[in-house]
Amino acid sequence: MTREVSWEVGSDFHWVGMAPGPFLPWPNPAIWFALGRHAVLQLMKEAGTRRNLWLPNYFCSEVVQAWSASANIHIYEDSPALDHPKWETLTPASDDLVVAVNYFGMDDGIAWAEWKRKHACILIEDHSHDPHSIWALTSRADYAFCALRKVMPVPDGAILWSPVRRHLPSPAVSEADAGSLEKLTAMLFKSEYLAGNGSPELKEEFRRLQLSGEASLECAPVSAASLFTMRYLASGAPLLWRTVRRDNARELLLHLRDWRAAVPLHASVSDESAPFGVPLVFASAEGRDYHREFLRSRKIYCPIHWVMPQDSTPGAGELSCRILTIPCDQRYSSTDMQRVAETLIQGACHAR
Ligand SMILES: Cc1ncc(COP(=O)(O)O)c(C=O)c1O
Repeated sequence: MTREVSWEVGSDFHWVGMAPGPFLPWPNPAIWFALGRHAVLQLMKEAGTRRNLWLPNYFCSEVVQAWSASANIHIYEDSPALDHPKWETLTPASDDLVVAVNYFGMDDGIAWAEWKRKHACILIEDHSHDPHSIWALTSRADYAFCALRKVMPVPDGAILWSPVRRHLPSPAVSEADAGSLEKLTAMLFKSEYLAGNGSPELKEEFRRLQLSGEASLECAPVSAASLFTMRYLASGAPLLWRTVRRDNARELLLHLRDWRAAVPLHASVSDESAPFGVPLVFASAEGRDYHREFLRSRKIYCPIHWVMPQDSTPGAGELSCRILTIPCDQRYSSTDMQRVAETLIQGACHAR
């Protein structure tokens, strides 16, 4: 059955066909895992003894939980709203592991590089939001990882590398969990849905597969990336997709320049950045929730990076309840960005 082409923005990736060249290569050597969290788990496993792991207070809580079974977690203060971490809260010993996060891929990493020169520790950078940011490309960290599945249309996949060529842990023995196949099926079905094909129940079906595949992957043991991910991403990351992300982010910011219902976390996007989404900060949690629901009712699905308990460490809970990420990745065109901006502006008018 063929229906009208369905327009929507956000949520999980769909199958978009083969990635277009030219490609930006991945770091080499790199070890490929199914999930970003697996990269750090494998590093900790090979470290032998249970280590101290320093994490920013503003981070994805499911990932913190996954790591907490294998390490003693220590929290320091950092968030995408700060220029750099509150260094006085970060006091590792020389064999402690410290995870530094490049939120939305927008940081140049200079402040971290200076800090690292004066502080002995094992620094692991999280480049999940942009594996080719200027920070990732110029890094001098002991290790770096990227949960590729956050920015690339793959059901699973992450890489771990060492910018300073330290010894890398062994690859995982087991292959990606069956959840990966469920997610790949969901990607194919979503692609058909967006093209207007399939039964009216198709959306329900791919949503069910996405959720069940993700739940399965999240509780799987440390595993290698699936064959699909390895082959699909073999040549690297399409340069074009970076350009589209940057152009889309700029386009959205331009359309929202006179809009006052929320403030963009980053006022502009440099030539080196390519964020997958534009984070907006609303004046209140109610305002954020209202706009998120308004967008959802118009098929624009915006994630929250990240949902955190209100009582989490200073500032984190407060930012978490007012932030909203507007997707601007390579799936979308400038016309899509214009429509998203118009919907946001329309939402603000309805709220008055
Ligand atoms: C910045 C960041 N780092 C790490 C992770 C963990 O990646 P994965 O879910 O593949 O373990 C995520 C996932 O949400 C993330 O957003």
